[in-house]
Amino acid sequence: MSTLRNDLLLRTLRREIVERPPVWMMRQAGRYLPDYRELREKYSFFQRVQTPELAAKITLQPVEQIGVDAAIIFSDILVVPQAMGLEVQLIEEKGPFLPNPIRRIQDLRRIHIPEVKEQLSYVFKAIELTKKELNGSVPLIGFAGAPWTLFCYMIEGQGSKTFDLAKSFCFSQPAMAHDILQMITDTTISYLKAQVNAGADLVQIFDSWAGLLSPDDFEKYSLPYCNQIISALKNQTLTILFARGANSSIESMSKSDADALGLDWNIRPSIARELAGSDMVLQGNFDPAKLLAPVPVIKKEVKRMLDEFQNYRHIANLGHGILPSVPVDHAKAFVDTVKNYQFEKLVQ
Ligand code: CP3
Repeated sequence: MSTLRNDLLLRTLRREIVERPPVWMMRQAGRYLPDYRELREKYSFFQRVQTPELAAKITLQPVEQIGVDAAIIFSDILVVPQAMGLEVQLIEEKGPFLPNPIRRIQDLRRIHIPEVKEQLSYVFKAIELTKKELNGSVPLIGFAGAPWTLFCYMIEGQGSKTFDLAKSFCFSQPAMAHDILQMITDTTISYLKAQVNAGADLVQIFDSWAGLLSPDDFEKYSLPYCNQIISALKNQTLTILFARGANSSIESMSKSDADALGLDWNIRPSIARELAGSDMVLQGNFDPAKLLAPVPVIKKEVKRMLDEFQNYRHIANLGHGILPSVPVDHAKAFVDTVKNYQFEKLVQ
């Protein structure tokens, strides 16, 4: 039994009939919040991530200031490659940079499956602290990158529109690619289990670069590894799988043990529902750029999205992370519109 005061998200994931969809936003702790920008002036990105007090403080900002129904622990997917032995930098205005990526068989010597309890202890401390400070108000989401998305950064060494190096690595050295993906998977399983032990109420897997793969390749290089992670967590927690751009594989993903599938904004909710089946909880899928529209437009469009999901097994969210240029009152308009939305009829 949950002792949370607001457990709407957990009840939705358990497929209970709820009074309205829960709402949170991917990347909800970030640069669009003035308080986050203030901390950014004083501390580097990895100082913010690795100092539990700072990570907890940042995690709480959108809960207190925007009123979302869940917190997501402030961290980054790239702490996993870092714990596996790769140097990861975050370059201002550019994004992640790994100066020594994996390119050849000899490079494998530089990565290992870490003892996550030690290497990533700061994440678990941040989770414990955040849980204390949340004091039972809303659930706390833990997360990890999908093995495929982490592989992209570990091979390419930086962000890319196409991740050609990572893809050609798979296509030309598939056995080695699978070995690396398996190492990431094993690490991620113990990492997420430890997040749950530290107090995370559910977890989300971010496969931001799933859409770079053809459906067949997604089902070869990404989905089996996500499924291993989800199955390993099945008896321990609730899981959301967000594979951006993998809409052709919704049917395959719905066969996994995931409790919910995250959707980007390139698919109609009705089509996603048809592909995923009536039992699956769907999360999404507001275009993040629409939060730059005037507030009345946001309100109207959010209602339209909620109507399209037909008030049924839905977690309101964006179709990807919130943009740094979104005004705070626009983010709040998104959240408030969902909170004021009443289910007209409950579908049994
Ligand atoms: O959702 C949350 O509020 C929790 C925090 C969170 C961050 N990164 C903080 C962050 C989460 C869930 C992530 C996940 C993440 N990180 C993903 C998957 C989700 C997605 O957006 O696709 C990816 C691909 C990364 C890798 C990463 N980290 C990139 C590409 C960047 C630079 C781009 C950007 O958004 O600035 C980061 C840095 C990063 N991670 C920032 C934040 C708040 C910005 C750091 C700053 O400049 O202050």
